[in-house]
Amino acid sequence: MKNDLITLAIETSCDETACAVVKNGEEILSNVIHTQIDIHKVYGGVVPEIASRNHLLKISSVVDRALSDAGVTFSDIDFISATMGPGLVGALLIGLSYAKSLAYSLDIPLVGVNHLMGHISASFIQGAKPPFICLTASGGHTNITRVDNYNKYTLLGKTLDDAAGEAFDKVARSLGLEYPGGAKIDEKAKSGDVNAITFPIAMENNLDFSFSGVKSAVLNYLNSKKMKDEKININDVCASFNRCIVDTLINKTFNALRQEKMEVLCVGGGVMCNDMLRDELKKRCEKEKVKLYLPDKIYCTDNAAMIGVCGYYNYIKGIRDDLTLNANPGINLI
Ligand code: KG4
Ligand code: ZN
Repeated sequence: MKNDLITLAIETSCDETACAVVKNGEEILSNVIHTQIDIHKVYGGVVPEIASRNHLLKISSVVDRALSDAGVTFSDIDFISATMGPGLVGALLIGLSYAKSLAYSLDIPLVGVNHLMGHISASFIQGAKPPFICLTASGGHTNITRVDNYNKYTLLGKTLDDAAGEAFDKVARSLGLEYPGGAKIDEKAKSGDVNAITFPIAMENNLDFSFSGVKSAVLNYLNSKKMKDEKININDVCASFNRCIVDTLINKTFNALRQEKMEVLCVGGGVMCNDMLRDELKKRCEKEKVKLYLPDKIYCTDNAAMIGVCGYYNYIKGIRDDLTLNANPGINLI
């Protein structure tokens, strides 16, 4: 008798065409990611129509590769997991339609997955078990969530304007750095002085974030330097700005841990690739005796393994979707 549950998971919410095969919600048998970064960077950001077209071009080969890397065939797959939102609607529809057609033709269940829950589920790959507090910071979202069970989430704080990754990308653009700018700022910050420039950051006494102020402060700083014809030290700007975002993310998250009386912290989302953030989180957690689950970088940026893990927990809870499941580009955490 076969007790294992194997899902084939598809993720196409933005500019990564991704497919993974995941066993029992914990064993990543394959994790294939085809990134479109090189295609979009000439435009300075993701062009939705181009993203959809390239998902369409790549999805079949990415799925085939995920199966062969995992050493399985379609007949080994028990159900399909697919991101249904949030994200770019045209991009989501490519992956979701492909997932639906696979579920229909293989006559196996389809499970829709919320991309944000997927980012949280990356921690399960590292062995995290609820309850815990989770900080997710990506290009579209910045959330502090209380995770009481695999499918039970309470949103404690969110960004009121720009997401952390969006602030990174916009500041990078104004510095003339290539899209996606987060990683470029991260690199330059390593050679800069975090105390060189003081950028103000909104620190209201709640768990919500606001990053548009610090973003504007950097832009104003750059403009005033240019007007005065003064030299700009890009490394110092990157280090000071990066430090500002890191401090805000960490301080708010520790306020949430204190408020909820929790001692376990999980993190996810592309911004969690930031080395200054990873180092500071480790130090602070060690100091405050908080158990930290820090996913490998490959599970922080968009990937389908996290979607397969989340899909598994949806599946064992009894969640099934049918072919009427639609993409929901604006959905938040439930
Ligand atoms: O999770 P993700 O891959 O896609 C979304 O769901 O948005 O996150 C992408 C975001 C981008 O804004 C990118 O600039 C940021 O993550 N990012 C970083 C780093 N690597 C990626 N931000 C700061 N430091 C990094 N090393
Ligand atoms: Zn994402």
